[in-house]
Amino acid sequence: MPREPRRPLTLAIDIGGTGLKASVLDATGAMVADRVREATRYPLPPDVLVRALVELVRPLPAADRVSAGFPGMVRGGLVLSAPHFVTKSGPGSAVEPDLVAAWDRFDLAAALAEALGRPTKVANDADVQGAAVVAGKGLEFVITLGTGFGTAAFLDGRLLPHLEIAHQPFRKGETYNEQLGDRARKSIGDHRWNTRLRKAVVQLDAMVFFDHLYLGGGNARRVKLDELGDVAAKTTIVDNNAGILGGIRLWEGEHLGL
Ligand code: BGC
Repeated sequence: MPREPRRPLTLAIDIGGTGLKASVLDATGAMVADRVREATRYPLPPDVLVRALVELVRPLPAADRVSAGFPGMVRGGLVLSAPHFVTKSGPGSAVEPDLVAAWDRFDLAAALAEALGRPTKVANDADVQGAAVVAGKGLEFVITLGTGFGTAAFLDGRLLPHLEIAHQPFRKGETYNEQLGDRARKSIGDHRWNTRLRKAVVQLDAMVFFDHLYLGGGNARRVKLDELGDVAAKTTIVDNNAGILGGIRLWEGEHLGL
């Protein structure tokens, strides 16, 4: 007979600009159900996202608590920025003032707790992803390469305050997000995208002096490590499932500083 999963069970949700993903983790962090995934549909005001997530997780086993990674700045469960979800029809399309207003300081943690009937924690998606992969030693930097460009930094396993590096100028009058997000990759191809990534990594290393770098997210599999130069020796490419696996760490908040 299969072993009973160890409680508490955590419903871990990864809210992405392209896909909404979820699974249930047991107390050891192991997935107890296959991951479910739905495409992210636009326009996406908060109430539509909450309804889509309720539908997404319906087939999953009941959990005791919920964690969600969100692609924007989140503080104390409140959304302070939602760069993908304020657009009319997805990243790169026009920003819609009504969506900006709807997302501004939206209490996503409270809304999900109510809709799912379980205590809920929400944090930035790159922070959550990073929490699943860092080793707990030195300055560890995480970059997620997906729809957007996510970053997280940990010092001796403790999460440092989230910085929206994604939307800072990088080169040619464009931000990291604009130059290295999935739209840019599709338009310039993997080879040039890798060249840009190397420039970004070198620049960020000069700012952060990381001891180790983790590259995650859906596009991490397209990274050519040998094109990263010297930084390659201290870089690890991690599985995209980390976005979900990190969910359990949100509930170990004190240790992480979350
Ligand atoms: C957002 C970040 C997020 C990243 C990855 C960026 O556009 O600004 O907060 O972590 O996308 O989803």
